[in-house]
Amino acid sequence: MDIMKNKDIYCLIGDPVSKSLSPVIHNNYFKLLGKNSIYFTFNIKDKELDIILKSFKILDIKGFNVTIPHKIRILDYLDEMSEEAEILRAVNTVKNQKGRLIGYNTDGIGFIKSLELEEIQIKDKNILILGAGGAAYAISISLAKEGVSKMTIANRTISKAISLSERITRLFPEIDVQYDGLKLENTNREKVDLVINCTAVGMYPNIDESPIEMEGFSKDLIVYDIVYKPRKTKLLQLAESKGHHTINGISMLINQALCSQEIWNGKKDCNFVQNYTKIRRILEEHVE
Ligand code: ATR
Repeated sequence: MDIMKNKDIYCLIGDPVSKSLSPVIHNNYFKLLGKNSIYFTFNIKDKELDIILKSFKILDIKGFNVTIPHKIRILDYLDEMSEEAEILRAVNTVKNQKGRLIGYNTDGIGFIKSLELEEIQIKDKNILILGAGGAAYAISISLAKEGVSKMTIANRTISKAISLSERITRLFPEIDVQYDGLKLENTNREKVDLVINCTAVGMYPNIDESPIEMEGFSKDLIVYDIVYKPRKTKLLQLAESKGHHTINGISMLINQALCSQEIWNGKKDCNFVQNYTKIRRILEEHVE
């Protein structure tokens, strides 16, 4: 990177952002591609959002990611939104196109890309989603678009599971969508092909908890935990001990970021397989 030349600037805004791995991913990506670009993190309070976005336009920040707590409030400041962001009413990627801010959401597509890289087919599969928050919504919509045949939304707060399952049914009436609590009393575990944990359970500091018991599933079950820290959550440990194939959240994290790069810089640079593998190697040194 030539520091004497003007760089293209990208960043993450959120609160807190100090522990984010996004700068590691994006700056290594720029390095891999020999791009004269840099990615910062900025801790931004709610009341500062307006002035910050105005400054970004003046400074010609090319693009930025948005994380908690601004993923929904940012909608008020955008000039345009992708269909995905419009459906989810949440944005994690913004492109600054000559002062026009265009919002996208790469959570779902990042997840789907990670399944593709693991060579996991999901068409006509029966999926159990744990959680009913923003991540569960983004992932369930993407899975529905990819043609899964059956989905169960299981959540601690059952009313939220009902509300999310109804939203999916309204958008995709052809899919069989059920709901349940985390005890899975109404779910036929043997018929589930893929479990996806979209709850916060298993993350620091609750690393000794699993959102569900891992009894009664078929041997062929795949267990995907979108949590990436720790790398091997309690859920994944239990799943591994039963012989299930497991995937952690690092893959989704990198793919989301590569999808943001694709939005900012076009498809040609985003050689997903090659860059994913290289960035994953670097990132694993940063996550226990
Ligand atoms: P995100 O955007 O990461 O999805 P969120 O919208 O706050 O975050 O959703 C968090 C999810 O984790 C919810 O499904 C939440 O369950 P509730 O709807 O019952 O709150 C789930 N969750 C968080 N802590 C949990 C816990 N200790 N046990 C079970 N589920 C938990």
